[in-house]
Amino acid sequence: MTAESTAQARTGYRERQLVVLDVNGTEHEVLVEPRRTLVDVLRHDLGLTGTHVGCEHGICGACTVLVDGRPARACLMFAAQAEGSAVRTVESLAGPDGELSDLQEAFTRHHALQCGFCTPGFLMLAEGHLAACPRTDKAEIREVVAANLCRCTGYQTIVEAIDDCARQRRNREED
Ligand code: FES
Ligand code: FES
Repeated sequence: MTAESTAQARTGYRERQLVVLDVNGTEHEVLVEPRRTLVDVLRHDLGLTGTHVGCEHGICGACTVLVDGRPARACLMFAAQAEGSAVRTVESLAGPDGELSDLQEAFTRHHALQCGFCTPGFLMLAEGHLAACPRTDKAEIREVVAANLCRCTGYQTIVEAIDDCARQRRNREED
């Protein structure tokens, strides 16, 4: 064993690998340890700090992003696992001039946030759900949002906001 590999074994250090990630429509190359999580790469390597970290073991949902359109816990994925997929974070919701999306507007209108720590995760959870199930209803939305934890709102306003957004999207489609 060389001195270098002995040091690596002692410190737990592993070789880094080049990972190519498509995040919010932009391709990024990052050199990371294989065990580095997607949420750490998003926040610390790409500076996309809108995605929050709570429990770091898949319970709270604060780290929810979309991977190929489906909500995923970014703390439970290695960044390398996201290679070849399209990742969307909360930063992708607002328009180019910073104008809020219809979903973000609905959260604002219905006071669906208080401290806001959970909000990026709920927004991405909702965005994924609305894309998959545009004809959703409040009962279904209630089940979906149960996947994430909010300590402030009591959930009712979050359900109202997502339902309102779903209705507005349907109305726009029918016009
Ligand atoms: S930080 Fe990922 S689920 Fe809590
Ligand atoms: S708004 Fe505070 S945790 Fe949800």
